[in-house]
Amino acid sequence: MSTLRVARHALLRHKLTRLRMRETDSATFRRVLAEIGAILTAEALRDLPEQPRLIDTPMARMQAPALAGPEPCLVAILRAGLGLLEGAGWVLPEAPIGHLGLVRNEATLQPTEYVVRLPHDLAQRGALLLDPMLATGGSACAAIARLKASGATAIRFACVLAAPEGAARLAAEHPDVPVLTAALDERLDARGYIVPGLGDAGDRCFGTAG
Ligand code: PRP
Ligand code: URA
Repeated sequence: MSTLRVARHALLRHKLTRLRMRETDSATFRRVLAEIGAILTAEALRDLPEQPRLIDTPMARMQAPALAGPEPCLVAILRAGLGLLEGAGWVLPEAPIGHLGLVRNEATLQPTEYVVRLPHDLAQRGALLLDPMLATGGSACAAIARLKASGATAIRFACVLAAPEGAARLAAEHPDVPVLTAALDERLDARGYIVPGLGDAGDRCFGTAG
């Protein structure tokens, strides 16, 4: 069963086109990625549980909607997830932040973990995991396994581009994790890159292309 949902929003599609364009420079790429991070975060968390709260407006007393629990943790997969995290923080400025450093070996396509810094109350808050690219799904699956091993419940994953291969793997390995993407692309190429895609997200974000 698919866990993937494609966000339907004209602004999201418009901004994604800027990211895809070869001529978009790093500074613009980072800024637009942050803007997309804000929109994806709002969309991924649209159904957070709510509980009415009694408040006074300047005009009257009312039962007003509010979140039932604390804001979920935001967790970025380094490096490229940092770009999304910036915008996610505009939407949830008080949420605790976690970092998971994973790098994909470009020959084997297997991820290696190099840093783990996670908030301690993952179980109480839930977590929104952020990474622009879901390609083979190796990095996202490893990150979610790490979050679960650290006690996280109610995990959601948001990405900018998904490949069918990665979406299928994520649904098979973590069927309890809903996945939100700005677009589902056609396929992976022989090197494990998403086509048509946007290239190497980390390199484009931080200007480290060779
Ligand atoms: C990219 C991307 C994902 C991963 C996706 O990161 O940001 O984390 O590849 O590929 P997968 O689905 O096949 O695992 P990369 O490993 O290149 O690291 P970087 O962000 O530091 O460039
Ligand atoms: N990682 C990226 O940055 N881009 C891809 O297309 C696939 C993996």
